[in-house]
Amino acid sequence: MTTMKTAPAGSSKSAPATDRVFNFSAGPGVLPEEVLRIVQQDVWNIGGSGIGILEHSHRGKVADQVFAECDADCRKVGNIPANYKVLFQTGGASAQNHLVPMNFMPAGTTADYIVTGHWAQKSFDAAAALAKFPGGAFGTANLAFSSKDKNHSYIPSKDQLKFSSRPAYVHYCTNNTLYGTEWHRLPETPAGVPLVCDMSSDIYSRPVDISRYALIYAGAQKNVGPAGATLVIIRDDFMEQGGRFIPDLMQYRVFAPEFSRPNTPPVFAVYVMGQVFKWILRSGGLAAMHKHNEAKAKLVYDVLDSTKFYEPHARADSRSLMNITFRLPSDDLADRFVKEAKAQGLDGLKGHRSVGGIRASMYNALPRAGCEALAQFMREFERKNG
Ligand SMILES: Cc1ncc(COP(=O)(O)O)c(C=O)c1O
Repeated sequence: MTTMKTAPAGSSKSAPATDRVFNFSAGPGVLPEEVLRIVQQDVWNIGGSGIGILEHSHRGKVADQVFAECDADCRKVGNIPANYKVLFQTGGASAQNHLVPMNFMPAGTTADYIVTGHWAQKSFDAAAALAKFPGGAFGTANLAFSSKDKNHSYIPSKDQLKFSSRPAYVHYCTNNTLYGTEWHRLPETPAGVPLVCDMSSDIYSRPVDISRYALIYAGAQKNVGPAGATLVIIRDDFMEQGGRFIPDLMQYRVFAPEFSRPNTPPVFAVYVMGQVFKWILRSGGLAAMHKHNEAKAKLVYDVLDSTKFYEPHARADSRSLMNITFRLPSDDLADRFVKEAKAQGLDGLKGHRSVGGIRASMYNALPRAGCEALAQFMREFERKNG
């Protein structure tokens, strides 16, 4: 497989090539340029095989190596304990919203959901819908908390979490992509209750203690790869508790042998994800990523904190390092901001309609230079329009 020497993630060498712009898209999002260069080559001919990665059999030697390396590198990056499986699935994080309760919320049980945004609400809704499943095959979902009262602008305190008496698991979402909030601690769940987490928009952006979770899932397309693969990290004993009466391909255990290939897997997406893991390792691992992401976010939050022209959406203690959300004094000004920023090579800044204004997504692969350019653009835009 192709390897390449690298500059650290925050260095000036990670500035974009001249025919690319800074990509602030919420996802699919920016990928590391050196990964894209490796991918270009491997699409043509991977590892001297004379065949590109898109054309190889998922059961051949090249795919064997791609899956084994992706698994090993994912484990290295996340320091994943040996009693966990790494699974590569399809269907995005949204499919997990159904698979999790189908597997772990059998009849007679209750699963607790902490709702801190749109995607966490979707997770709760998917579980709650199963209560109406014919034959009463599944349990019920309990809403342990919702931040809807303040348009999901904050992460709850410990006292705001109201768990049921013996939840089958607690589900939460670490980073709320639409609203720009992020958990900076683990939720204080009842002792011994399995914790299930949607980490789609901040997975591997900072060190994570995997051993605190029973199951983590993430669509790859923000921090760890392209759309098409869903990363699942699951503890062995939890996986074995999963339902056996649901169809095979909905049972996690079916994906565990042979690196997730019960059917044709998303080979290309897994391959790119593997290259992103190698890039994270070469860049210094998750501690370095975290430092890089903190420094980048600070550049933009410092502008927000220095003025009343921009109104941040997230409460200060709940701010995300991945998605920064703010409004301008009018929708017209916000539209102009997006247009003028794009003309200056800052793309993908339009906020989601549920918050309005601007959303700057600054995933691992977005170079620091992009955040510097955005901060400078914000100051200049205010000077002209404030
Ligand atoms: C936190 C979070 N969860 C879930 C999803 C849905 O992911 P998918 O489109 O992969 O189903 C998204 C997509 O933006 C997200 O940001």
